Amino acid sequence: MKICKSLEDLRQAKKLIHGKHGFVPTMGALHAGHFSLVKKAREENDFVSVSIFVNPTQFNQASDLENYPSSLEEDLAALKDLGVDLVFLPDFSTLYPDEYRFKISENDFSKKLCGHHRPGHFDGVLTVVIKLFHLMGAERAYFGEKDFQQLSLIRGMVEAFFMPIEIIAVPTVRETTGLALSSRNSRLSPEARDKASLLYEKLRSKSSDQQVLADLQKAGFDVDYVETIENRRFVAASIEGVRLIDNEVLP
Ligand code: PAF
Repeated sequence: MKICKSLEDLRQAKKLIHGKHGFVPTMGALHAGHFSLVKKAREENDFVSVSIFVNPTQFNQASDLENYPSSLEEDLAALKDLGVDLVFLPDFSTLYPDEYRFKISENDFSKKLCGHHRPGHFDGVLTVVIKLFHLMGAERAYFGEKDFQQLSLIRGMVEAFFMPIEIIAVPTVRETTGLALSSRNSRLSPEARDKASLLYEKLRSKSSDQQVLADLQKAGFDVDYVETIENRRFVAASIEGVRLIDNEVLP
């Protein structure tokens, strides 16, 4: 498994690319959700690359960025076991030589749900993703359905800019309690983790969005939103200051 930090390393390593190239962008602190993306990429492609970069431009709160978990050694060992060919580990100045003077901005869906509560978040996501797509040059990229709004905006961007890359959606991986796997879950206490499974239970319930919001507040969540759009219910809520998101198609 080739590990590249600089653009020059990456240019050299890309000479090894053969056949179909599948790419999985991540922010590290990898868990079974990420591994399902990598496994699918491995099944469907001849060459698999992964990037690990905690992208500061998508964090609207400094404390969230500072507390974002990191486990680089374990991540690299796991990616090697999964048969990844190339890992790109850029730093900020490598990916942002312009210091974020230029950005990709979407004017509609990115302003709703998480975008409404985290201003600028999706500008940061779309900007880093377009940079990574250009640098990696893969034919396919893999994203989890847990971040459904992100997935849908990336699909929209690829269409809008005629980008020659196929976006593959991978279902959310859940704990047995139903809690969607997220790197942020590692910051939950055992009690909060138990309580967090309520999020999925309520998300799937027949109650109205307003009722679900009230139920979650009563259970101690600080709720950003519960909203159904085109038969998919989205929720974002914090517990112990850890922000969790999830979504599900309603029956
Ligand atoms: O989903 C994530 O981990 C990030 O938003 C992504 C797509 C790697 C961009 O930083």
